[in-house]
Amino acid sequence: MKVTVVGAGAVGASCAEYIAIKNFASEVVILDIKEGYAEGKAMDLMQCASLNGFDTKITGSTNDYSKTANSDICVITSGIPRKPGMTREELIGINAGIVKTVSTSLVEHSPNTIIIVVSNPMDTMTYLVHKTTGLPKHRIIGMGGALDSARFKYRLAEALEAPISDVDGMVIGGHSDKGMVPLTSHATRNSIKVSEFLSEERLNQVKEDTKVGGATLTKLLGTSAWYAPGAAVSGLVQAIACDQKKIFPCSALLDGEYGLNDLCIGVPVILGRKGIEKIVDVPLSAAEKAHMVESAEGVKKTNGLLEL
Ligand code: 2OP
Repeated sequence: MKVTVVGAGAVGASCAEYIAIKNFASEVVILDIKEGYAEGKAMDLMQCASLNGFDTKITGSTNDYSKTANSDICVITSGIPRKPGMTREELIGINAGIVKTVSTSLVEHSPNTIIIVVSNPMDTMTYLVHKTTGLPKHRIIGMGGALDSARFKYRLAEALEAPISDVDGMVIGGHSDKGMVPLTSHATRNSIKVSEFLSEERLNQVKEDTKVGGATLTKLLGTSAWYAPGAAVSGLVQAIACDQKKIFPCSALLDGEYGLNDLCIGVPVILGRKGIEKIVDVPLSAAEKAHMVESAEGVKKTNGLLEL
């Protein structure tokens, strides 16, 4: 199993690190445009191998896509991250050009690859990769919902004063502060609906804290987060590589599912060796449905800024 990670910045490197630590891939190639940077990150990570007990071979390359040839999975993290006060949508101008070039070069060398898009604004960048590469829709996956759901579970556990392992919940919709739809109606603590434990007011607070999860960290760190994004990507990569058939909310190209068409947005999907093996339809409350429609309008508006 060969995995390429484009972008050796904090998200790309943490992604490569978590993939290696989980020890399921034979090879990870990190690629970056900055001379020597990916090589340096790869060497540093390889020097963790004996300490952390993994056998994954990590190599780095300065923009030489021939090194990525025949990758089973490619992760695109390249582009600029947001700064405090910025929305993910504001990154579109620079990141669209980068994602277009990167996805074209990847597919040239790995025509059978599955692509995971992390660059922001993620739903729009996932749509752009569809338009640019023309790969079958089950082979292009946007990573946002897995991260937003992890943040939702963190906030739920905090409100419930419960261990995170006791909590389950999912965030669908767009990967943006306004677009996220945390499914409180489905969230549980050990099979019991969280509404049994938390007031509507407290649940609303959990929802709001989840939606600004990335922005809160950007304000604290001065740039966007990397540990949880890296861990979330590694979860998707593992589900595909090990054919786990796990459900994750991912940005997928919709063709009528959830009443939506011609956009990529977060919905629950089953991930296995073929990529997106099924989009799962879950019943939504009236408020969640309305929020999903609004979220889709937001994503389409950002897609409208693309020069296709
Ligand atoms: C985040 O929410 C990187 O979009 C990513 O932290």
